[in-house]
Amino acid sequence: MHTTRRSVGLGAVSLGLMGLSTAHGTGSAPVQTLTAEEDHRRLLDLLGIARLRPGADGQNPHASNAVNYDEARADRCVGLPALLTSRDGTDVTRGTWPARRAEILAMFENEIYGRVPVSAPGIRWNSTPAPAQDGAREVRGLRGEDATGGLSIEATVSLPPCVTGPVPAVLGLTFPRALTDRFPPEPRPTWKEQVLARGMAVVEYVPVSVQADDGAGLASGAIGLAGGGRPRALTDWGALRAWAWGAGRVLDALETMPGIDARRVSIFGLSRYGKAALVAMAFDTRFAAAFVASSGQGGAKLMRRDFGERVENIASSGEYHWMAGAYLKYAGPLTACDLPVDAHQLIALCAPRPVFISVGNPQADAWTDPRGMFLAAAAASPAYALLGARPLQSPRFPPLGTLVDGDLAFRQHEDGHTGGPNWPVFLDWWTAAGARDRMPTGGQPCTP
Ligand code: GCU
Repeated sequence: MHTTRRSVGLGAVSLGLMGLSTAHGTGSAPVQTLTAEEDHRRLLDLLGIARLRPGADGQNPHASNAVNYDEARADRCVGLPALLTSRDGTDVTRGTWPARRAEILAMFENEIYGRVPVSAPGIRWNSTPAPAQDGAREVRGLRGEDATGGLSIEATVSLPPCVTGPVPAVLGLTFPRALTDRFPPEPRPTWKEQVLARGMAVVEYVPVSVQADDGAGLASGAIGLAGGGRPRALTDWGALRAWAWGAGRVLDALETMPGIDARRVSIFGLSRYGKAALVAMAFDTRFAAAFVASSGQGGAKLMRRDFGERVENIASSGEYHWMAGAYLKYAGPLTACDLPVDAHQLIALCAPRPVFISVGNPQADAWTDPRGMFLAAAAASPAYALLGARPLQSPRFPPLGTLVDGDLAFRQHEDGHTGGPNWPVFLDWWTAAGARDRMPTGGQPCTP
């Protein structure tokens, strides 16, 4: 058990990390380790399902389940679940939005992403100095541990040069170094350098330190600890919710740091972490803004649209662990048209806070369904308008490289499956959104 509490000097600012809530017990039942296939089969048995339909095949255009990239065949379902009509049929007003929000949240918890159990571990944070890089003035390594020592959440905070007061931050969900080292280095200035040069802090959070990205890992990590190592019930949290929960724990730590303005923390994620960033933004209203990059199916894309990745792909044994077990039933015998919620409602849960939906070019990033994400944002816009925020400023799908502005914004950049070229656009946009809210987003820009 690690309970050390340290107070760390940080130049003019003292970065004290208060110990947060202590962990609770998770029982002593023996850990039951299943393979992803075994656990997937177990969930199907619980649901009484013999087999699922296969996902879209993105490799073989002649396969019977070949991926669809034909816009004319994308909309197989009739309409979308209502956003601003309550379950009892009444129209939602600004006054009744909180109750409607709670209804939508409950559907996402029960059917899609799962619930965070009350036994989720309490986390205590420690901070240690780390070498300054990328033009940062000071870097701290954060480690969040539960009382059993079974969990060790990793994050790094880099403070910008020249700024001494509390600064806004971008909290990025980052892939482990071992993975990113296999890809070409990010072009300079990197996203970290860009954020720091604008007088904001960079927080790099490692989601796999909360939950392994594998169905075989569900007996450990936050999900395993909370469940005492027992396999998940159908409405228990999946990895996306656990990664989002971990981002919230990092935000808890940021709230105790005098050098960070925790009311101005924007969350960023790409691809599966784009999905998790959107889930975090939707469920945890403390996040001030989100940059959701190429999130696709299970993220900002309308789930029921048949274009690119399908619900069936995510329900397969390679990706099902991202979701609650209950989600699998929409891949057989039910279909995506039976989903009681869709991505426009997930985005609406973020309203009125600023959300920037980013995607690459229509060829290289087709799997994520760029238009499906735009349509979800357009359908979420009435919630932004209802709450007095700026909805998407155009209902028309924009050409490549054109920002559709609003507190809810959308832009397709010229590159592929990356957030890369949209970073300067996002940072300008967030700064402008912050100025409108009289909550300046940029700190004091300066170069290292
Ligand atoms: C696959 C998967 C996507 C996911 C992506 C990633 O392409 O189908 O849903 O977003 O991996 O995270 O890299």
